[in-house]
Amino acid sequence: KSMIKLLFVCLGNICRSPTAEGVMQHLLDQAGLAQQVLVDSAGTSGHHVGEAADERMRSHALERGLELTSRSRKLVAKDFQEFDYILVMDQSNFDDAAALVAEGPLRSKIHLFTDYCLSSRVSSVPDPYYGGEAGFERVLDIVEDAAKGLLAHLKTKM
Ligand code: 4NP
Repeated sequence: KSMIKLLFVCLGNICRSPTAEGVMQHLLDQAGLAQQVLVDSAGTSGHHVGEAADERMRSHALERGLELTSRSRKLVAKDFQEFDYILVMDQSNFDDAAALVAEGPLRSKIHLFTDYCLSSRVSSVPDPYYGGEAGFERVLDIVEDAAKGLLAHLKTKM
């Protein structure tokens, strides 16, 4: 059977979606599911293409034992053919992603990542870029919660 492919998407692909990618990969490794689920991330803006994750984000992730190694790339229409789930961090990411493909089965692959949260009552992973250190902790808290819920959902599909 074929792999389930997940693409995490935010604006710059240097804070939220690299964190989601790293957290999800860690959960999959722990669950022994790394051969069944592939993860990647991308940004709707091309502003940071080729860059490593934000230094502040990497530092906060590392405090939780998580090394973020992704390089920023831009979301492209072809990703909707390649991936099964396009997991966006907020409504603005949702709208920007949706604009890349026609309404229908491809656009239906877009999901708000926070819809999978188990305990956080939030409707987005807030952009931490222009805020303080607490924003990066908030990203990690929400992403860890949503990633656990997403993993539970995926297990029902395999
Ligand atoms: P991200 O955060 O979308 O979580 O990667 C941002 C990174 C950069 C910018 C905005 C958000 N920016 O405006 O450069």
